[in-house]
Amino acid sequence: MNAIALMPQMMPQSKSCQYQGFTIWFTGLSGAGKSTISAVLHDELKRRDIKHEILDGDVVRTNLSKGLSFSKEDRDTNIRRIGFVCNLLSRNGIIAIAAAISPYREVREQVRDQIDHFVEVFVKCPLEVCEERDVKGLYKKARNGEISHFTGISDPYEPPMDPEVVCETQNETPRESADKILAKLRELGYIEW
Ligand code: ADX
Repeated sequence: MNAIALMPQMMPQSKSCQYQGFTIWFTGLSGAGKSTISAVLHDELKRRDIKHEILDGDVVRTNLSKGLSFSKEDRDTNIRRIGFVCNLLSRNGIIAIAAAISPYREVREQVRDQIDHFVEVFVKCPLEVCEERDVKGLYKKARNGEISHFTGISDPYEPPMDPEVVCETQNETPRESADKILAKLRELGYIEW
């Protein structure tokens, strides 16, 4: 009786979950293009009315990870927190997009192990090119010694060994990079369009 009474209420909710949740995990140097490619994906998903959330490193560090430093320990904490949220979202049918440097391989692998449908995207761009772009002026500050532990300059970056997608942003446009990711999502059966 109860189960039958609950059915009509449950139907709309289950129907709204018509998309398989998964996590797109960007990793790469500051200025490599993670946020820019995320923005292209955001436009594509929004256009199709598909539920998604972007967890951008810069944004997360103003709220969920406010006060964390750039020590290895704090970066790992930041990544675990982002991974935790991505897992909650994607297991509930929402596409989670993480765009943090996530420089350490081990914690990235831990996050991968926790999330059922995980697509790692290496946003590959030579340090010199990121430094030349210097969108936020931080590389200059890092070179001047005004910022310490800066990834690529005074802190390590460990590239992924076997990412699902590699975007070479030195040679491809954000649109081309996003298309590569969409093609992989199609190949994995996560999207049909
Ligand atoms: S992560 O290492 O913990 O994944 P996250 O992506 O959240 O880093 O934050 C990186 C952003 O913080 C950079 O894009 C840059 O704007 C800013 N930032 C400030 N200090 C540093 C630093 N020492 N190293 C790297 N990024 C820094």
